[in-house]
Amino acid sequence: MNINGKHYRTIWMEDDRVTIIDQRLLPHEFVTEDLVTCEAAAVAIADMHVRGAGLIGATAGYGMFLAAKEAADTGDFDAHILACANRLKATRPTAVNLAWAVDRQFARMAEATAPEAKITIALRTAGEIADEDAAYCRRIGEHGKLLVEEISRRKSGATVNILTHCNAGWLAFVDYGSATSPVYAAHDSGIPVHVWVDETRPRSQGAKLTAWELGRHGVPHTLIADNTGGHLMQHGLVDMVIVGTDRTTRTGDVANKIGTYLKALAAHDNGIPFYVALPSSSFDWNMRDGLAEIPVEQRGQEEVKYADGWIDGRRGEVLVAPESSPAANYGFDVTPARLVTGLITERGICRATEEDIIGLFPENHA
Ligand code: MRU
Repeated sequence: MNINGKHYRTIWMEDDRVTIIDQRLLPHEFVTEDLVTCEAAAVAIADMHVRGAGLIGATAGYGMFLAAKEAADTGDFDAHILACANRLKATRPTAVNLAWAVDRQFARMAEATAPEAKITIALRTAGEIADEDAAYCRRIGEHGKLLVEEISRRKSGATVNILTHCNAGWLAFVDYGSATSPVYAAHDSGIPVHVWVDETRPRSQGAKLTAWELGRHGVPHTLIADNTGGHLMQHGLVDMVIVGTDRTTRTGDVANKIGTYLKALAAHDNGIPFYVALPSSSFDWNMRDGLAEIPVEQRGQEEVKYADGWIDGRRGEVLVAPESSPAANYGFDVTPARLVTGLITERGICRATEEDIIGLFPENHA
């Protein structure tokens, strides 16, 4: 993704340092941060300096590399790696990419015995995880663009209106994004698109991040309050919904940012296609029942009771609710497969059924 003419990924190596964009400051300030320890990577994930399934996985991959570098000085290499792996995995429970990346690092490092060799492997694997994420998201864009193109043809070239929830953009991955990748691909190929951006309370990833990245790319978009989508759909103002996912079961149940389920219900009621875009690293091949099995993160109540933003040139918070009122903060919900029109993956588009998903990814046949 380009920012002021410079291409950025969301995580990269610079002179032996792992660097990220501190997303807590967007859209008002673009600040990078160096991660020099595994603990710093864990804090960046837990406190949402980085967020989004793909980027959480890539950060965990680099976190394991940092752990390997540290481990060489600890006297017990394997114990340090294990402790760091557990620390990273415990930071956020819902996005499956986190455990996937840590386990991939574990398996690769086990191929060597000498610490130096393990460090080299960990660095290479972290790079592979990041490169793969970017490549898969680019392909998601190519496949998803065909859906947008088809709607555009049906509308005789009139603007295609796409609704999205949260941020499943390039900021949530290493590059391109999942839900936004088809949007960028369509826009770049000259198809007129417009995106309805749910603000996505309480962390406002839509307002802060999706609106920012679409704006930077020059994609026409409109920010809406979270409860607006149903009304727009009833009035023919939404042609399709594309969202991302933090974890999707092998049967097609989709965990995504809280509020996604309500959008899927509204889309279903209005006959509007509801697509979920994901790289294969976001499938949980061990789960069949999303509602029963996917762990849903609950975060602090202050995120609901306070709104944060830019005040007098710096980040600040204001209390919105009565101070004494308790608040609940469920981070994600699960949309059952029956409400999902299709899954857009790096290998193509399929229905949200076990048969079709395994048809695309036969190596995960049970
Ligand atoms: O809590 P976050 O910001 O890490 O939430 C994750 C998300 O960005 C969304 O749920 C997204 O739609 C799917 S992750 C690409």
